Amino acid sequence: MTLSALLGTYQARTEQALQHWLPSAQILPTRLHEAMRYAALDGGKRIRPALVYMTGVALGAPLQRLDGPACALELIHVYSLVHDDLPAMDDDDLRRGKPTTHIAFDEATAMLVGDALQSLAFYILAHDPHMVSDPALRLRMVETLALASGSRGMAGGQAIDLTAAGREITLAELEDMHIHKTGALIRASVRLGALSQPDSDETRLEQLDHYAKCMGLAFQIRDDILDIEGDTATLGKPQGSDLAGNKPTYPARVGMDEAKRMAHDLHQEALDSLAPLGDAGQPLRDIAEYIIHRRS
Ligand code: IPE
Ligand code: IPE
Ligand code: MG
Ligand code: MG
Ligand code: MG
Repeated sequence: MTLSALLGTYQARTEQALQHWLPSAQILPTRLHEAMRYAALDGGKRIRPALVYMTGVALGAPLQRLDGPACALELIHVYSLVHDDLPAMDDDDLRRGKPTTHIAFDEATAMLVGDALQSLAFYILAHDPHMVSDPALRLRMVETLALASGSRGMAGGQAIDLTAAGREITLAELEDMHIHKTGALIRASVRLGALSQPDSDETRLEQLDHYAKCMGLAFQIRDDILDIEGDTATLGKPQGSDLAGNKPTYPARVGMDEAKRMAHDLHQEALDSLAPLGDAGQPLRDIAEYIIHRRS
């Protein structure tokens, strides 16, 4: 199957899983539920769910066992986007080709949408009857996602981003910010996929973790590049937002050519750590290629 066909399949599965878990907009409080559905449904590339599915399948896990973790990762990601776009953070008015949640609803509702999506993600990990049944593995998944979302993961990276705006930061600080704000959830996606197969050995988990660490950083370097080279219509979010917000980015810090070279090197390093997976790792190789060349 081609990568785009495979991504299409996983996008459809993710949409179905999100539809299943998100409360209906008819249920009280209706406006909050409507806003949660507005933010989460029908949009985005669904890269994190795809990584959950691709990793799990590479290790032999059935798809149904991966729907819960895929959905949980996407919910945390959507929450991070809703809050990232708020006036107190990046102050953007377009996301996934439509008005951001605080524009379509209001700021207070957007804050609650983020809060509630985050809780829903952990509810799914605790409750989904189709996930891996071993309670120890379920607990490791909760632990992994909690760490990746919090002050030592995504939220921590966002905090560094806030204090870094308008300031010259070192390349090491920039890498640290990207590894946290974006890399942590990418890494958690691969880890939750791997933990869904009970007999995965530690060496395999470490190889996959190294792949995910490299691709998480490469993902955000590409995002920085697209802020300059992309266009608003294709991106579905405002091009030039980093420049307007005086954000430290890879192209701003090291130049465009060097930023691209770094993404390329990280991609190669990621591919090296996939070698032991053989043919089963092909979708993870294909999505890595897509991540560093994507246009949106
Ligand atoms: C955007 O993520 C925010 C970053 C972490 C760079 P994506 O590029 O995955 O956004 P969607 O989910 O496709 O909208
Ligand atoms: C996003 O970084 C990181 C998170 C949302 C956690 P950006 O601020 O660069 O993401 P975009 O460009 O708005 O999607
Ligand atoms: Mg931001
Ligand atoms: Mg932003
Ligand atoms: Mg960006």
